Amino acid sequence: MSASALKLAIIPGDGTGPEVTAEALKVLAAVARLERFNYSTKEFDWGGERYLRTNETLPAGAVEALREFDAIYLGAVGHPEVKPGILEKGLLLELRFQLDQYINLRPVKLYAGVETPLAGKTSKDIDFVVVRENTEDMYCGTGGFLKKGTADEVATQTAVYTRKGCERCIRWAFEYTRKRNNPKGKRLTLVAKTNVLTFGHDLWWRTFESVAREYPDVEMDYNHVDACCMWMVKNPEHYDVIVTTNMFGDIITDLGAIIQGGLGVAAGGNINPDPGGVSMFEPMGGSAPKYTGLNVINPIAAISAMSMLLEHSGQPAAGARIMKAIQVVTGTKMASQSAGKMGCSTSEVGNLVVAAL
Ligand code: IPM
Ligand code: MN
Repeated sequence: MSASALKLAIIPGDGTGPEVTAEALKVLAAVARLERFNYSTKEFDWGGERYLRTNETLPAGAVEALREFDAIYLGAVGHPEVKPGILEKGLLLELRFQLDQYINLRPVKLYAGVETPLAGKTSKDIDFVVVRENTEDMYCGTGGFLKKGTADEVATQTAVYTRKGCERCIRWAFEYTRKRNNPKGKRLTLVAKTNVLTFGHDLWWRTFESVAREYPDVEMDYNHVDACCMWMVKNPEHYDVIVTTNMFGDIITDLGAIIQGGLGVAAGGNINPDPGGVSMFEPMGGSAPKYTGLNVINPIAAISAMSMLLEHSGQPAAGARIMKAIQVVTGTKMASQSAGKMGCSTSEVGNLVVAAL
């Protein structure tokens, strides 16, 4: 057993969040036994229910409390009775920003046996990773109203990009591409819109070019974001690693999620790679209120998020072991990746992954 146990903060969240988190924790317990490492978990009840009771998204001291953990696992946030934007901004984005999780890592991988809506494409064709900048752009909350509610109303929402912000993301993406070491060739594609966003994305482009000089072994590639949406559908096999801005990354990773089989399988990490940084891992799907409590939601994305957490928290063998087990289950045991059509319940899928470990 390793001397220092992994300390995890668990935020099961809303809707189906707690159900899928339970399966991820079941798999964690099993893999920790097999791979012989110690861990502890502490649960936090943050989310919509608590907000409705207390009127706060994160209680005072929440961020400071989270800094004491090695990593955070988040089930889902989103509650039908809470106005859109409150939990997103007050909880999810607040944690991303406060903990400076400047990388949003989203693998787009078609697991064995999973159906893609792309005709003729297989697991060999759909296997790339999106590195999304996670702290700037239109997400930074800069803007406001003038003459609100009048016929002359003006609204601004400013995209903010900094040299530091894009450089640290681009450099991390080059390092990641190098480590990923794709046998078909290492390629990093910048996705932006340099033909229209001639200030912000000019900064991204110049930064990309200058950092690329340090990585002559990585092929440097560029797509405008609109063209990228076409290529992701027509030729997903072109991509190895994509690096992109926050807003475009948000959009193209939903396209990525659907070509890999949907929100039942897609997971992501909000990573602060700096020493002492605390990262947070989550399934990409929301809280799916209509499926809550029915034991029909797909926990594969949540279990993948746990695999990513372990991979990035000093337990790569455990992470890889979960990833292999997931593919045994998707490849041989599940009828579909859609909620209610899996041919087994949420908890059965968790049990099957444990058995496959
Ligand atoms: C995501 C989500 C969030 C985002 C929302 C919930 C704020 O869509 O993680 O992709 O836009 O980043
Ligand atoms: Mn999104």
